[in-house]
Amino acid sequence: MSKRLKDRSAFVTGAGQGIGRGIADQLALNGACLTIAEINEATGTSSADELNEAGHQAQFVKVDIRSEDDIRAGIAAHLERFGGLDIVVNNAGQNQHFDASKMSVDEWERSMSLNLRGAWLCSKHTLPIMAAQSGGVIINIASVHATMSAYNFFPYNVAKSGILGLTRSLALDWGRHNIRAVAVSPGWVRTQPAIDFFEAADDPAAEEARVRSLHPLNRIGEPADIGALVAFLASDEASYITGTEIVIDGGITARHAD
Ligand SMILES: NC(=O)c1ccc[n+]([C@@H]2O[C@H](COP(=O)([O-])OP(=O)(O)OC[C@H]3O[C@@H](n4cnc5c(N)ncnc54)[C@H](O)[C@@H]3O)[C@@H](O)[C@H]2O)c1
Repeated sequence: MSKRLKDRSAFVTGAGQGIGRGIADQLALNGACLTIAEINEATGTSSADELNEAGHQAQFVKVDIRSEDDIRAGIAAHLERFGGLDIVVNNAGQNQHFDASKMSVDEWERSMSLNLRGAWLCSKHTLPIMAAQSGGVIINIASVHATMSAYNFFPYNVAKSGILGLTRSLALDWGRHNIRAVAVSPGWVRTQPAIDFFEAADDPAAEEARVRSLHPLNRIGEPADIGALVAFLASDEASYITGTEIVIDGGITARHAD
């Protein structure tokens, strides 16, 4: 594989498992050094250990993206280890399902701090570093729910829509520093939340087959699919892509619900 991210370093949130881990793997395969910024010590440590054992350079730093202090310390640890910061992937997030008439203000604040504010805070503490270098790229993991959504996805879809607005603002206001910002919106991806969803059905295999059949490609995504896109977007091959959203969903949103 070409090392198109050789001499670059990346800070990936929520890279202990799922899509974040798929992104970390693909960035590493493309030559990047990595900080796994993860709240879960066990999965964060094993991600970094496995990458190092495979010959890559990775470190785990415990970061709760709801905490500005954690983010500041995590980015400082990244700079100390790797000397610069070229790629930030704001990936950590979680589906949330509330009744808009019953959700409390505290629940709203908690939800937004995870699914929207964290991406801004990681960007806030990265932009001056990237501006002082020759530039960089911030990749925000949104969702197909940012533009379409489904019943009972409040306020996850609100936060993910905000991620698109954040991406546009970062691209507009920081493009003159050669900083790009791109949103990636996955559809179904086989990670723990999707597996839990299938397993909650009476017939998990039938439910998974039903979901698969909604896709023109008759499959759901894998974390490596998202990782491969992120590695491309982080590379110089994508140097004219900024301020936009790339949907990666096996074609499910090309289809009308009927
Ligand atoms: N799986 C899908 O189908 C899908 C589709 C569209 C978008 N997404 C988005 O992709 C991202 C990753 O989702 P996933 O399916 O891999 O989920 P996941 O639950 O498998 O992984 C999320 C990771 O984030 C970490 N995390 C959670 N809270 C954190 C915090 N406060 N600080 C730091 N790390 C934290 C978790 O420990 C975990 O390692 C999310 O933003 C999600 O909204 C997922």
